[in-house]
Amino acid sequence: MRVCSLLGALVALVSLSSSTILQNGQVRETHFQETTVASISLNSTGWRTYGPNATEISYKGRWDSKHISWWAAPGIKFGFTGQDVAITFGQYTSQGVLVAYRVGGLDWQFTNVTAGSTHHFISPSTLGLGATLSNQLPLTFELRVTNWAYGIQIRAVHVNSNSRLIKLPNYSKTIEFIGDSLTSGMYATYEAFSGFGYSIGAGFGNVEFSITAYPGICLHDANCWGNPRGQTYQWFQTSDTSWRASEIYGTEPEKWEFSKHPAADIVVINLGTNDNNTANNVTSSQYLSSYLSFVEKVHTTYPNAQIVLMSLWNGFYSFGNSYAQSGAFINEIYQVYNHYKDQGFVHYFNSTGILQHNDIGPQWHPTDFGHIKIASHVMQYIRIKFGWEFGATGPEVQHETLYWNDESGY
Ligand SMILES: *[C@@H]1O[C@H](CO)[C@@H](O)[C@H](O)[C@H]1NC(C)=O
Ligand SMILES: *[C@@H]1O[C@H](CO)[C@@H](O)[C@H](O)[C@H]1NC(C)=O
Ligand SMILES: *[C@@H]1O[C@H](CO)[C@@H](O)[C@H](O)[C@H]1NC(C)=O
Ligand SMILES: *[C@@H]1O[C@H](CO)[C@@H](O)[C@H](O)[C@H]1NC(C)=O
Ligand SMILES: *[C@@H]1O[C@H](CO)[C@@H](O)[C@H](O)[C@H]1NC(C)=O
Ligand SMILES: *[C@@H]1O[C@H](CO)[C@@H](O)[C@H](O)[C@H]1NC(C)=O
Ligand SMILES: *[C@@H]1O[C@H](CO)[C@@H](O)[C@H](O)[C@H]1NC(C)=O
Repeated sequence: MRVCSLLGALVALVSLSSSTILQNGQVRETHFQETTVASISLNSTGWRTYGPNATEISYKGRWDSKHISWWAAPGIKFGFTGQDVAITFGQYTSQGVLVAYRVGGLDWQFTNVTAGSTHHFISPSTLGLGATLSNQLPLTFELRVTNWAYGIQIRAVHVNSNSRLIKLPNYSKTIEFIGDSLTSGMYATYEAFSGFGYSIGAGFGNVEFSITAYPGICLHDANCWGNPRGQTYQWFQTSDTSWRASEIYGTEPEKWEFSKHPAADIVVINLGTNDNNTANNVTSSQYLSSYLSFVEKVHTTYPNAQIVLMSLWNGFYSFGNSYAQSGAFINEIYQVYNHYKDQGFVHYFNSTGILQHNDIGPQWHPTDFGHIKIASHVMQYIRIKFGWEFGATGPEVQHETLYWNDESGY
């Protein structure tokens, strides 16, 4: 089965994003905010402007030295005083990329942003802050890119001239996801923002998270579905395998400086579904040896991290009068686990039985429900196995999953 259609992925990369959400092929009713304003020049009347390197701005996920975002659902977060936040986006921002943003634990809002534009995200009227201002200060602002290939570039952050940004402490725990289209939420309704990587990281609500996952990518260092390199190479780079990255950096991406960022405490790896596809010409012995050495490299990078290897469901097929899971590299992944298990830092997460055939959409990827099922099980596994407690005990994590029945008796 195909986890990423080559043509589909490339077309998606070069075309403009449209921000129309399709749900079962129908246009979903959405309520995106109109936030564009005329450009705010630096420190223009009424505003105080911070450059992208302001230490108050915390960058989540992978960002390069030009403050351009990469991989799935990267974001920024900061505290602020006053009641206004505006952001100017740089020239390397994808056209019309859909971003999610929120204040504190209020529901996520969505808007399209474009290269060179300025967006007035927060104002007294947009969020009705009056009622909430009195408690829980400082207010925090958080923004996430919803897609896995598009990105944004931060050029400036503006607050009221008599207000300021506040540097927020990071949560003490960090989780990192290394994956492909499955972890990055391809074909989920809000893409990376609906995927299980985001849903686990944000679901904890009290941990930092980074999703180094990209559609079509292999674990083994091979060209898979048009991605020139595999994760054994790309994970060490700041940018992903997108056309956008090759336009900016060619074949010389910036190395990711692990030492400048908090080390991951838990690394969840879901890789191999693309290696397992005959279209990509990766043999099972190449996959196995690459996985063995990759785990060693991740361990060297993060010596104290617990590394969780997820088994792969790889789609379902009709089987007699029922359905069965295909699976991919079942033995190889278990062999990698067996190789390291006595050292204590490698764990095996058996995903079999969480998803059923109807949790997979027509484009071979989990539905929103499928992602939430995976995320819920992995969260509980992490809680029981590593003692992480759940910190999001109220604020919205998944957006527009409020389906209900209010008529009894049919
Ligand atoms: C988002 O972008 C689409 C396509 O360009 C446009 O039709 C829509 O009006 C935009 N929505 C907002 C709120 O900016
Ligand atoms: C805006 O003004 C403040 C001082 O009022 C200064 O620290 C800051 O660097 C200025 N920002 C820009 C982008 O010029
Ligand atoms: C941010 O960059 C500007 C130049 O673009 C530099 O003058 C300033 O010192 C930098 N600030 C920090 C906090 O690194
Ligand atoms: C939190 O981590 C991010 C990402 O590495 C970094 O940009 C930020 O400066 C950190 N914040 C603090 C308070 O250390
Ligand atoms: C597939 O892999 C084999 C062995 O690595 C190599 O000899 C062959 O040229 C590859 N074929 C294609 C189409 O890439
Ligand atoms: C994919 O994995 C399955 C299950 O381990 C295995 O039987 C099959 O040979 C693999 N196929 C490829 C192309 O790697
Ligand atoms: C994974 O779970 C399935 C379903 O319970 C089971 O059949 C299989 O043996 C398990 N695999 C391993 C390696 O424990």
